[in-house]
Amino acid sequence: MTTTETEPTKPRVFSGIQPTGRKTLGNYSGGFRQYVSTQETGDAFFCIVDLHSITVDYDPAELRESTLDLAAMLFATGLDAQRSTVFCQSHVTAHAEAAWLLSAVTSYGQLGRMTQFKEKAEGRDFVSAGLFTYPILMAGDILLYQTDLVPIGEDQRQHLELARDVAERFNHRFGATFRVPGGVFPEIGGRIMDLQEPTKKMSTTLSSEQGAVYLTDSPDGIRKKFRSAVTDSEREVRYDPDAKPGISNLLEIMSVATAEPIAELERRFADSGYGTFKDAVGESVVELLTPIRESYDALRADERELQRLLGVGAEKARRVAEPTIEAMYDRMGFARAAAGRLFGAARPRGL
Ligand code: AMP
Ligand code: TRP
Repeated sequence: MTTTETEPTKPRVFSGIQPTGRKTLGNYSGGFRQYVSTQETGDAFFCIVDLHSITVDYDPAELRESTLDLAAMLFATGLDAQRSTVFCQSHVTAHAEAAWLLSAVTSYGQLGRMTQFKEKAEGRDFVSAGLFTYPILMAGDILLYQTDLVPIGEDQRQHLELARDVAERFNHRFGATFRVPGGVFPEIGGRIMDLQEPTKKMSTTLSSEQGAVYLTDSPDGIRKKFRSAVTDSEREVRYDPDAKPGISNLLEIMSVATAEPIAELERRFADSGYGTFKDAVGESVVELLTPIRESYDALRADERELQRLLGVGAEKARRVAEPTIEAMYDRMGFARAAAGRLFGAARPRGL
């Protein structure tokens, strides 16, 4: 029972993460941490979604660097290239193709209701069309791999819902082609908040330097950020996100870092002041991130190896996405040329 053929029921796992900005503790909690745990149970694909990153203002030279930064971080947080397929979205052209094809079955009105679009578009003088159509690209990412499970943070719930709607509309209009994916959200830490503004999510693009903890921050930098985290005047370590967003966020963070239940932490810090509690949270994050940062530095130093691994990943991803993109063209009624694509050469997984 060692070949993959004998394990047909392993769920297909797929997630994507953007190669922009420095990745935060929020990304760790909703993203990296979940990728590593789902890789244990499923046939997993993790995609560096560089095509998504051109939807807001960006610098081409930086994009190239951050793509390798992110590849190194994915391996540093525990993805294993032997078990998981880690690849770059632009290396598999089916992603861009799928986005166009799926735009035929995506509702303009639904795209306009995406809160991430509204937030990112607000107050800018230039809003790209790509920022608006971005959820279609994301739907294609997921659907091309006949995905069962998508590990993500809370902020992506609405986009996943749209991907499910798109899959269902396509299946209904053109015949059963896609699996309809489900989300995997962390029980705690699905929405880590900004340390300075605990009613807003910790974000790579929107948080201030002091409000976000970056995975590559120095231990002292991390300690300082937690010491100056915004709390409240009550002096009671209690989990209540509505009344006490700052303290509740710190409890979630410590629980993510140490894997201890929140109730346990509440008990332990019941009689401590906020200062002691904040120092302990900071220390737990230093302990979590130190080995990750060391491993990241070592992996990032070898670009050729990172490029080699991305090459291996892209080849596997292309092979797996091919039958689905073929079926999409075929079912949507595109004529085939003699030397063109081989429609129907292979059926998509499980259909
Ligand atoms: P991104 O960097 O936007 O590509 O996000 C990568 C992953 O991190 C996605 O699954 C997000 O849902 C997750 N994520 C981003 N910010 C947070 C946050 N503040 N708390 C929890 N998860 C987050
Ligand atoms: N939109 C996601 C984000 O910003 C990234 C993403 C792109 C993604 N494609 C995906 C996540 C497919 C899960 C599955 O975080």
